[in-house]
Amino acid sequence: MDHAEIENKVAAHYGASDLTRRILEELGLSDAQPGSVPLEVLFPFDQLHHGGVRLTQSMADAAQVHHGASVLDAGSGIGGASRWLAHHFGCVVEAIDLSAEFVKTAAELDVLVGLEDRISHRVGSVTNLPYESGSFDLVWSQNVTMNVPDKAAMFAEAYRVLRPGGTYVLTHLGESGSAPVDYPLPWAMTAETSFATSPDAFLQGLTEAGFADVTDHAKNAPPPPPPSGPAPKDTPAMGSGMDERRNNNTTAIGDGRIVPMLVTAIRK
Ligand SMILES: C[S@@+](CC[C@H](N)C(=O)[O-])C[C@H]1O[C@@H](n2cnc3c(N)ncnc32)[C@H](O)[C@@H]1O
Repeated sequence: MDHAEIENKVAAHYGASDLTRRILEELGLSDAQPGSVPLEVLFPFDQLHHGGVRLTQSMADAAQVHHGASVLDAGSGIGGASRWLAHHFGCVVEAIDLSAEFVKTAAELDVLVGLEDRISHRVGSVTNLPYESGSFDLVWSQNVTMNVPDKAAMFAEAYRVLRPGGTYVLTHLGESGSAPVDYPLPWAMTAETSFATSPDAFLQGLTEAGFADVTDHAKNAPPPPPPSGPAPKDTPAMGSGMDERRNNNTTAIGDGRIVPMLVTAIRK
């Protein structure tokens, strides 16, 4: 498969129709009006990564996000982190994602929580960003990179759109290579669309792209625990079979086949 075919498959993996209505229905908020939905009630549905909103907080801590920062949410899903950053830090956020359904849902959820003035969304790829060079203080990529085969292009684009001294923050689940992983996983049903590069190769790729101070904050820290309370139902955004997909991921993290990473890198 070439890269365009892979992107089509990845977008299809995350494509799901009518998501806003389904999320509001699950929440018992079908009649919600613009600006009336508290941000936090969306967390079980809009944080599409292990560790839930705690991972989002950990990323923000590692990146030392400052108030009013201009942020690119690169692989924004349905906008969970974009809204969180806009709400907590007054960030101005550009968000981009391969999935047109996710982009539409993200924009609708922004309106429901009243943050649409701070966040703009586009459909597109992190390997070919439609932004001017030097546009952002922070490029944020949360659990996206496992779906991207061309890491060199992705890292080069993040470097280009960051201002000098800006921060690239990423969470990645790397394959250690100690033994094969079991599918399905949250980000891929089969190995065909999984590119969970080893931790060393991932860090090396960032250095080769020109980044300085490449640091894996998760290396000596325990992985964030799964969200407390009952696991979110098969969240509409992540599709079916999430119990098995999440269990495969958790088991592989537990025995070291998958290594959670939280990386910051500085644009020179
Ligand atoms: C597991 S979800 C994480 C979404 C979001 N970052 C979050 O943590 O809630 C992975 C997302 O990456 C997006 N994605 C994968 N490959 C991409 C690419 N090449 N360009 C843009 N988005 C991509 C998918 O469409 C999906 O929304």
